[in-house]
This record gives sequence, structure tokens and C-alpha cells, in this order.
Amino acid sequence: MCSAPTILCLASYEKGHDFLREAKRQGARLLLLTSLSLKEKARWPKESIDEIFYMPDDDKRWNQADTIRAVSYLARTQFIDLLVPLDDFDLEMAAALREHLRIPGMGQTTTRYFRDKLAMRMQALEKGLNVPDFVHVLNYRKIQEFLDRVPPPWVLKPRLSAGAMGIKLAHSQEEFWNFVNRLGDEQSYYLVERYVPGDVYHVDTIVYEREILFAVASRYGHPPLDVSHKGGVFTTSLLERGSEEEQSLLAKNRMVLQAMGMVRGVSHTEFIRSRHDGRVYFLETSARVGGAHIAELIEAATGVNLWAEWAKLELARGKQPYSVKPLREEYAGLLVSLARQEHPDTSAYDDPEVVWRMSKRHHVGMIVRSPSYARVQDLLASYAQRVRVDFMATQPPRDRPAD
Ligand SMILES: Nc1ncnc2c1ncn2[C@@H]1O[C@H](COP(=O)(O)OP(=O)(O)O)[C@@H](O)[C@H]1O
Ligand SMILES: [Mg+2]
Repeated sequence: MCSAPTILCLASYEKGHDFLREAKRQGARLLLLTSLSLKEKARWPKESIDEIFYMPDDDKRWNQADTIRAVSYLARTQFIDLLVPLDDFDLEMAAALREHLRIPGMGQTTTRYFRDKLAMRMQALEKGLNVPDFVHVLNYRKIQEFLDRVPPPWVLKPRLSAGAMGIKLAHSQEEFWNFVNRLGDEQSYYLVERYVPGDVYHVDTIVYEREILFAVASRYGHPPLDVSHKGGVFTTSLLERGSEEEQSLLAKNRMVLQAMGMVRGVSHTEFIRSRHDGRVYFLETSARVGGAHIAELIEAATGVNLWAEWAKLELARGKQPYSVKPLREEYAGLLVSLARQEHPDTSAYDDPEVVWRMSKRHHVGMIVRSPSYARVQDLLASYAQRVRVDFMATQPPRDRPAD
């Protein structure tokens, strides 16, 4: 690297330590803009960060106009080469700042395709991808046509949320309009779509100069909405490599990332395979590392740390060669559950395949790894069963992110 570039990372939530560490290791100067409300709690890798700045926030949401002024003030004395949003909710802010300061990277139009569920649906449809029937919650005549044409239940979802937050299932027109009326002036920030029952998959990808350099396809044990609404143990595991299922998802993922125009970065993209017609439907995409410890899952299976790779490719900036090579091609499964116990003891889960354990109050989480697909499936199924008995607790679905 000729001169040390300066990266401004935006993190309204505490995320991406490995990004910060790797970027520092690569010689970058790192500035971090994060939420004031996290100041006392967050455990940032301070040794990797040159300066931390705090944005006053309302429940971790920053005011865009204030943020633009604050970062412009910072830019009087700092030359910012790159802007990287570490959390999904920081993407729009990063795009607005890039446009304002004229910093290269994903701008507002492209960012919409990776954040706004209506924009990504419309773009996917236009590019010939299979999507669940949908309509914007905007024009009542069009909504009524949709409700008359598409059988219930319907999924009413916020365009700009994540983690199944704020998603409602409506089983009748009356229930649907009650939800919509309650939304008042927020209605246009929602879309409604056909409920497609089936397995939910995710593909986690690294893209450099529009080329997919790395992609791993996995299937959730239960659809994330079922886990967040009804409770239960969250699991996900890699698909069998070379299987028809894996190959078809990787192909669909390629189409999605091309349709949305990702140039470089990481993506977590989701699909549903319909139980009714067997077809794969595009669910959603994003320009970030998957949450819920999926990065740890991918690293267990392949040795590739998505956060660290993201730092490397951002710093290569399309000007230098970048490549990524898995250290291994094994299988891995992830399990997470709320626990009744404050500090659950998982020492009885002692198979040698356990490679990661979560340490968080009132949570259990484990990752198992094996060269054998079948072994991971067996272990995950038996652990999920045991966790249900030993630890599981439930809580109502969230409309707001947890701390
Ligand atoms: N059209 C749909 N049909 C069936 N299930 C859906 C549909 N849309 C969303 N879901 C369920 O809701 C979950 C969250 O929806 P998603 O669009 O992925 O938003 P989020 O950003 O909150 O993850 C999905 O994982 C799936 O379980
Ligand atoms: Mg999702």
C-alpha cells in the first residue's frame, strides 16, 4: 500500500471487531463513529482504532442531517478515503455521507437495492428473478386487488428493518387493514407479500469487482420468522457441497448480486424454497456480513473470516488484486437459543466437534464442525433437542433491536 488510507467506520451497534483489527493490520488509519448510548458498554478493540467519535442517538438511530454536519466537520481536518457501515442500519447513512463528501463506494441508488425490501423486490422482478407476489402499502386500490388475488396469510413487512423485526402475518382482510390503519402515516414504509411456506436458505458471499470469489449456501433449521414469533432454537447449517440444492442456490445468488449491482463487498442473501411448488423464491439481500453469528459459522467451516476479508477487499479498492482462498471445506452448524439460566453451563455438550460457544447472559450458542455433512446434521438435531429441554426460554417478538 502506497500511503495509509483512512477509513471511517459507522457503527450504530457494536459490530465488526474483526473488520477493525484486520484493517489496522493492513496499515489503515481507523476512525470509528458510533452511538453515544454505547459509550460505556461497548468493548471496541481500542488498539486497532485511531480515534472514536460519538453520535448522539435516539435508541441508536442517528439524525442524518446532524451526522452529515458532524462528519463534514471532521473532514475539515481528516482526509477520509473510505466509509464503511458495519451494521445493516448504517448503510443508508454511509451512502448519504459518500454522496455528500463525494467518497467512492456504494451510493444511494445501489444502497436502496440492498436495504429497501421494496426496491430489491422490484429490481429482482424486473431482472427476471422469482419473487413472492407483493405490493407496496401505498395505493388502496392496488392493495385491494392484491388481497383479492393472493390467498392469505400475507406478510406485512417494514421496508427498512432487519432480524424479522416488525414483521406481521395477517390471516384475513380485516386483520390486514387493522394493522395498516394502525400504521397511520408509516404505511408507505411497508410492503405486503404472499406468504411462501417452505425452508429458508442463506448464501454468504464475497464479491470483488463484480465477481463472486466466495459463496457458501446454508439452510435455517426453521424459518427465522417462526423462531422469532413462536420461539424455539435457532439453527442453521451448510448445505452439502455439489448437491443440486446447493448448486441451484449458488446460481440464484449470482443472479441476485448481479441484478442489484454489487461491485465489491460482502453479502448475506436469503431465499425460500416453496413447499407448494418446489421453486426457489428470492427473499432478501444485503451488503453486509450476516448477523446472528453466521460469520462464526462460515469461519468454522471454511477458515474464512468474512469481516477480515471485507476489510482486505475494501482496502484493495479495485486498484489492487484481491483473492480469497478457503483453508478447508468442511461442514458446520450453528445453534442459538435464549436460556432460562443467566449463565447456562454447556459443558455436557462435549463432542469434539464443538468449536465455538457463546458467552452471553441468558443465551446458549454453539457451533459444531466436521468434514462430514451427515455428522453435522445429526449433532445439530440432537443438540437442538437437548437445548430445548436443558435451557430454552422464550420471549415475545421484538419490534426494536435488542441491546
Ligand atoms: N413472503 C414470505 N413468505 C414466507 N415467509 C416470509 C416471507 N417474508 C418473510 N418471511 C419470513 O420472515 C423472515 C424475515 O423476513 P426477511 O424478509 O428476511 O426480513 P429480515 O430483514 O427481517 O430478515 C424470513 O426469514 C422468513 O422466515
Ligand atoms: Mg432475513
